[in-house]
Amino acid sequence: MPTMPTVELHLHLEGTLEPELILALAERNRVDLPYADPEDLRSRYEFTDLQSFLDLYNANLDVLRTGEDFHDLTAAYLARAATAGVRHAEVFLDLQSHTGRGLRPEEVLDGVTAALDTSRERGLTSGLIVTLMRHLPPEGAVEAVRQVLDSGAEVLGIGMCSTELVRHARDFAPAFGLARAHGLRLTSHAGEEGPPQHVADVLDILHVERVDHGVRAMEDPALVERLAADQVPLTVCPLSNVRLGVFPSLGEHPLRRMLDAGLLVTVNSDDPAYFGGYVDENFRQVTAALDLSADHLRTLARNAVEAAWVDDARRAELR
Ligand code: HPA
Ligand code: ZN
Repeated sequence: MPTMPTVELHLHLEGTLEPELILALAERNRVDLPYADPEDLRSRYEFTDLQSFLDLYNANLDVLRTGEDFHDLTAAYLARAATAGVRHAEVFLDLQSHTGRGLRPEEVLDGVTAALDTSRERGLTSGLIVTLMRHLPPEGAVEAVRQVLDSGAEVLGIGMCSTELVRHARDFAPAFGLARAHGLRLTSHAGEEGPPQHVADVLDILHVERVDHGVRAMEDPALVERLAADQVPLTVCPLSNVRLGVFPSLGEHPLRRMLDAGLLVTVNSDDPAYFGGYVDENFRQVTAALDLSADHLRTLARNAVEAAWVDDARRAELR
């Protein structure tokens, strides 16, 4: 029975910052942290909603100070992904959160891409998606896309994350339009804490090819019909949704209903260091909680391969 995932499409590199690595980087960079040890930090991972998580997630970024730190963060994630059976990963990077703290875009991008390159040589292929921050002014999003283009770094696409409850998708049309004009692939978070209309907005206004989360689309039958007809990939993150209070429990998660509605859903880990598990653990727990069949699991595995931004040759290998 295919229970193990091979493709991860919704993973924030900053969300793989494990407490042990946070403390090690703090020591290396002489950053004072208010935590006695990793367990002390871990005990604070009780979130009431997306914003309560983002506050801690963003505060912890302070330990990432150099290109080497970004290399080590990425390498640690890739090693963990390989043990989960991941053969292809498309990973998010919140570039603006780091340039906003004074880091140079090239230093951040080069650190990440060096680790991705090393892992690619060992057979784990990857793509880097720079996520624009919805809570920051849209002019900064355009600037971030320009930095990506100017850096010459190997970046596959542009996404958007952070809180969904501020600004309209149309504010980011210039940034997404610039990325699109230069051949970058496009995705966006929507329909996680925001209503179904946000899913339609990122499709219609930003012209994204995938939607990250998209789970609240289930509240709008006409939108479900559209997403199923167009086979728009939705990168769903079950453990994240429960930890952030989008659904009260895994047993109440709509993943199975989404599959049964013919949606092109995939299972992913979002911010595994914070939400209790990498993609393999997401699969294990959601399979048990929703009593997913071998057929469901085969569909999820196939969906992720079809939704990946890879060429035909790599897609055939991953199938
Ligand atoms: N939603 C929005 N922004 C994020 C998330 C998320 O689940 N994780 C990291 N940044
Ligand atoms: Zn996310």
